Amino acid sequence: MPSVWWKDNAVQLIDQRLLPTRLETATLHTVADVAASIRDMYVRGAPAIGATAAYGMALAARLSPATDRKDLLDDLKEAKQVLDAARPTAVNLAWATSRILATLRAAPTSDPEDLRGLALAEAEALAAADVEINRRMGANGAALIPEGANLLHHCNTGSLATVDYGTALGVIYACHEQGKGIHVWVDETRPRLQGARLTAWELMRAEVPMHLIADNASGSLMRQGRVDAVIFGADRVAANGDVANKIGTYNIALLAHTHGIPVYCVAPTSTVDLNTPTGDDIPIEERDAAEVTRVGGTVVAPEAVPVYNPAFDITPARYISAIVTEEGVCHAPYGLSLAAAVARAAET
Ligand code: MRU
Repeated sequence: MPSVWWKDNAVQLIDQRLLPTRLETATLHTVADVAASIRDMYVRGAPAIGATAAYGMALAARLSPATDRKDLLDDLKEAKQVLDAARPTAVNLAWATSRILATLRAAPTSDPEDLRGLALAEAEALAAADVEINRRMGANGAALIPEGANLLHHCNTGSLATVDYGTALGVIYACHEQGKGIHVWVDETRPRLQGARLTAWELMRAEVPMHLIADNASGSLMRQGRVDAVIFGADRVAANGDVANKIGTYNIALLAHTHGIPVYCVAPTSTVDLNTPTGDDIPIEERDAAEVTRVGGTVVAPEAVPVYNPAFDITPARYISAIVTEEGVCHAPYGLSLAAAVARAAET
């Protein structure tokens, strides 16, 4: 089941806030609804956010009353601004909205109805390509993982974080499909618990052997020799290979480095932002204090306590053993290998 799709002239998606207890679909009829679904994390994960925003652009085109090309493109530019502002860190969001706008700008037709059809066709193509790209990354990454490996995974990077299959979890699915006998340590991933709520749910459905662990258990497991590789996704990869990913990624990368354990980041070339030179240039989202002061609705901190809640951190490239893309496995120096992967993707 995909995480997001188009049906009955609306954007439909799995409401991930309700998992693992309820599997329900949300139907979004306006661009404001789509932006809110991204901001409020009905849908999350960089590629899933990108696909949702692409469908949001198709929705904007459908809802626009424009009767000529210029007015339609102006309405889409406005929609792009609304959608891009929903979350700042995942570059896939602006990448996807830019792609829809660029397709319409380059279209050989000026007929608004044709352009509306083209916007939806491009969003559908982007969503379909996401799944195909994930399978290629899965195969590329699985080649790095030895038989019987114990893998430590952070956040959720699976079917729910993409249109389907996943990035880092895609590699895990590929290893499992190949009968490699892997086992996964699933970081719970405070504060939003994407690991406990979403990754554990996905892996159990796929019958991948796993244990859920508290975030602060990973150091001890590494010291005991019970982690063979660390694997995670990315919300943005800077041109130099620095990786923005879910808060806590930096901690486990440092721990792994200290213990001589390989660290793999799995991300499509759409997550590589060659316009962002280093991790220091990536905007880091700060989210509501309630994410930290409450767990499952229960208050766990004093009323009105000051809270700092960054949603992502930066892992410097020197702590990353390889970045797995659909265009192959990139190694340091990342400035060269990432640029080459992006160039190969642009050719296809
Ligand atoms: O805040 P989230 O849940 O959107 O954060 C998601 C992550 O950090 C993922 O690791 C990242 O988007 C890669 S998902 C394929």
